[in-house]
Amino acid sequence: MKPIRFDYTNVMSSVVGEHGLEESDLARLAEPSQRALDAVQARRTKDLRWLDLPYRESVRRSILDYAASVRGRFQNVCVLGIGGSALGNTALQSALNGPFHDLQPPKGVPRLFVLDNIDPEWIGPFLETVDPAETVFDVISKSGTTAETMSQFLILRAELVRRLGERGHKDHVVITTDEKKGVLRQVVEREGYRSFDVPDGVGGRFSVLSEVGLVSAALVGIDIEALLAGAAASDARCKSRKFAENPALVHAAIQFLLHTKRALPMSVTFAYSHRLRNVADWYAQLLAESLGKKHARDGKVVHRGPTPIRAVGVTDQHSQVQLYAEGPFDKWFTFLAVEEPSIDVPIPHAYADLEALAYLGGRTLGELFRAEREGTRIALTEAGRPNAMFVLERVDAHAVGQLLYLLEVSVAVMGEHYDVDAFDQPGVEAGKIAAYALMGRAGYEGRRAEIEARTRGPKRMLQ
Ligand code: PA5
Repeated sequence: MKPIRFDYTNVMSSVVGEHGLEESDLARLAEPSQRALDAVQARRTKDLRWLDLPYRESVRRSILDYAASVRGRFQNVCVLGIGGSALGNTALQSALNGPFHDLQPPKGVPRLFVLDNIDPEWIGPFLETVDPAETVFDVISKSGTTAETMSQFLILRAELVRRLGERGHKDHVVITTDEKKGVLRQVVEREGYRSFDVPDGVGGRFSVLSEVGLVSAALVGIDIEALLAGAAASDARCKSRKFAENPALVHAAIQFLLHTKRALPMSVTFAYSHRLRNVADWYAQLLAESLGKKHARDGKVVHRGPTPIRAVGVTDQHSQVQLYAEGPFDKWFTFLAVEEPSIDVPIPHAYADLEALAYLGGRTLGELFRAEREGTRIALTEAGRPNAMFVLERVDAHAVGQLLYLLEVSVAVMGEHYDVDAFDQPGVEAGKIAAYALMGRAGYEGRRAEIEARTRGPKRMLQ
């Protein structure tokens, strides 16, 4: 279980030229980084309780006990949730259960569906395809009010009751929500559903290592103990005030400096691991929702925030890399790489007389994948594009726990550098409120009138 490596050689101007960073840029940010870390850690026992998620033995036990109590009973686990209440669940599943788990789950282990959209063209076919009587629904909402998740819950609950009756349906629902607030908690109390709490001080996008991510992970057989052990190992590293030894501090400093000093506002996470592609998706939300803010912490209007982009190697070499290598200088890159893939696939010898095929014979897909990744890094570096790389020894629960925790600390520290509140999301709330108004929710009549007045003007539309 090696620690994750963070290679930032190709971020330096000595390697990539004028768009890279000088040693002195990083040196100047060392002390502010320590102060930022101190500020984050000082809130650890107050409002940033997600920092302590790796250490909750009794919660881990109760999740494992619950998973054991329902083992073998369900063919499917279905998460109803969105944003921070879904992206981590998907990331854990695709990283740790592999790409074809749901086609052929190991005996006694359920499939996982994460319904993080309400498009009827997705949910309708889900209802026609997946038998709710064979499914446990993990309904996740920290606020316990999000319209998308609540509407899914109402639909699936009605379906369960229709099939299994008022009493019989209850074992098919497990709720993860705030301990006290929100309508979902009231529903738990009324129905007596099995429930878990989203702890205080754990915002949606920082909640993957809480009950939010762990319940579904445990239900589908992911080793949550190793996941949390990996997170704890990262905590030990990412607590260090020694700037040059702390990967979260160095990563945060690079992000901030390349954005603000080198005018590279776009942050591409380039997962050279099919299993980690959804970790890149999860990170996109973490970065975007945490740092994309209108106001600085003193209330001044600043409109800050990097733009996350997710890419998957090698797929996006044949889609995005042309732009990345030759387009505008507005991006920097973080590769996710795996040292020891769990499996390799040999490429057979054939057509020895055809040079364009002959060189592949006798090699492996792992070798080619690695060569493609290194080739892309070399090409971007030679094109003057700063790039760094996280290297996981392998994609296992320990390494993924390390990576998720490291990135969370890094983003929290970035919040200090960018001087924004990394833990609120007023822009998301605004959209939720407008949707409540449009759906006619009581208490939102004024907002609805405002929206109607605003949209009354002439339309410009091509029919
Ligand atoms: O990170 C966040 O806070 C958001 O993405 C939320 O997770 C998302 O809006 C869903 O909210 P809730 O869990 O309250 O339903």
